[in-house]
Amino acid sequence: MKLPYAEPYKIKMVEPVKMSTREERERWIKEADYNLFNLSSDKVFIDLLTDSGTGAMSDRQWAEVMLGDESYAGSRSFEKLKNNVFELTGFDYFIPTHQGRAAENVLFSHLVKEGHIVPGNSHFDTTKGHIEFRKATALDCTIDEAFDTSIYHPFKGNVDLDKLRNAFEEHTPEKIPFVILTVTCNSAGGQPVSMENIRLVSEMCNRYGVPLYFDAARFAENAYFIKEREAGFEDKTIKEIVKQMFSYGDGMTMSAKKDGIVNMGGFIALNNEEVYTGCITFNIMYEGYITYGGMSGRDMGALAVGLMEATEYEYLKSRVHQIEYLGNRLVDFGIPVQQPFGGHAVYLDAHKFVPGIPVEEYRAQSVAIELYLEAGIRGVEIGTILADRDPETRNNRYPKLELVRLAIPRRTYTISHMEYIAVALKNIFDTRGEAISGYNIEWEAPIMRHFTVKLKKK
Ligand code: F0G
Repeated sequence: MKLPYAEPYKIKMVEPVKMSTREERERWIKEADYNLFNLSSDKVFIDLLTDSGTGAMSDRQWAEVMLGDESYAGSRSFEKLKNNVFELTGFDYFIPTHQGRAAENVLFSHLVKEGHIVPGNSHFDTTKGHIEFRKATALDCTIDEAFDTSIYHPFKGNVDLDKLRNAFEEHTPEKIPFVILTVTCNSAGGQPVSMENIRLVSEMCNRYGVPLYFDAARFAENAYFIKEREAGFEDKTIKEIVKQMFSYGDGMTMSAKKDGIVNMGGFIALNNEEVYTGCITFNIMYEGYITYGGMSGRDMGALAVGLMEATEYEYLKSRVHQIEYLGNRLVDFGIPVQQPFGGHAVYLDAHKFVPGIPVEEYRAQSVAIELYLEAGIRGVEIGTILADRDPETRNNRYPKLELVRLAIPRRTYTISHMEYIAVALKNIFDTRGEAISGYNIEWEAPIMRHFTVKLKKK
C-alpha cells in the first residue's frame, strides 16, 4: 500500500484552543456587530483570518532569537539576514522594515509621484493604498482567467502582456516609475506567476526602460508552483528557482510575516545603489536606523533562518498539501471554490455558495459569519465590503469575485483541523444554504471599512 503523506515536522510546543457552544457564538458575533475582526481570539476555535504573522517558528528560529544582537547600529543579526537575503535573491542592497506595507511606504516615498501609473497583477490592498495615497494609479493587468473561479489555469497570477503593452503605449514610460509583480498574487486568490511570464514582463519592462519590482510576500510558494507546474523546472531546487525569479527584477518589497515565517518583519532588497540611497532617508524617518528598520535583532535572526526554511522543498510540499487537502475535500462535497487552490488559502465562491442572498446584502460576509456560527472558524470576506465604495459616487463597488478566504497559517494546524473545516462547510452548504441571512451596514468608516464595519442581520 502506498504510504500516505505526512508532515516533515513534529510538534514541540502546543497552544490550547477552546471550543465554544453555538449559543455563545451567536451572542459573541452579535456583540461584535457581525464583524469577525471584532472577535477576541479566545472566541475562535480555528483562526483562518490570515496566514500573515500567524505561523509557528521552528526550534532553529527560536534558538536564533536567543542569539539576537540588539546593537542599535551594525547588529550581527542584521548581517546574518542581509547575507541570507543576498544568497536567496542576489540583491545587493538590503533595508529592513517592520512589515510589508512599511517597505512599500519607504520604496514608494522615493519612487511614486502624483499622476504616476503603476501597472501590476492585482495589487494587494496596502500596495494599492500606498500608490493611491500618492495620487497615482494602480493599473491591474492580470489575465482575465483569474476572475473566473471555475476555469483551470496553472498560473492565474500572470500578467496579460497585451494589457501591459497598452499601459506602456498609452502612458509614456516616464509616467510609469516601475511595474510591480505580486508573487503569489494574493488578490487573485493566492495564484502564482509562471517563470515564463516573469521573464516576458521583465523583457517588456527592459524594452521600455521601466524597472520591475516584486511584491514578494509569498515568493517561496510561487517558486513551489513553478517547480510543480512549469515544464523545465522539475529538477531545479526551490532556491535555484527563487534566484532565477529575482534575477529578472530590480528589487522587491517583502512582508516577512508570510514566507519569512516570522510573526513580524519586512524588508526591501534592491540591485540599484541610487534607489537604495533614495530609500534610506525615508527608512530612517519612518522605520528606524538602516541596520534594524523597526525590527529587533532577535527578530532579524529568526527571519534569516525562516527564509531558508521557507525555501526548503519538503516544507513547501507540506504547506501546499494541507491547502490541497482542504480544497479537495470541499470539491468532494460539491462546494464552489476558486480553482486551482491558492498557495496560502482556499477561497469559497460566495456567489455560487449563497445565490439566494441579494448581492447588496454581502454574500461572502454572510457565509463567513455562518461558518463561525457553525464551528467557531474565522475566515475573512474578500468581497464587496472589502472593495469599499467608489471614492466619487460613494456607491458600493461590486468586485467580480465575492470570496471567503480561508487562509492557513504555516505549520500551525493539522489535517484533522482541515477535515473539521471541510465538514463544517458541508453542513452549512447542504442543510442551510437557503436559510443563511444577508446583512445591512449600520456604520462604516470612510475608507478601509472592512476592519471596523458594523452590520445588522436582515
Ligand atoms: N503584499 C501582499 C501580497 C500581502 O498579502 C500583504 C499582506 C502585504 C503586501 C502587506 O504586508 O501585512 O506585512 O504589511 N497581507 C496580509 C493578508 C495582511 O492577510 O493577506 P504586511
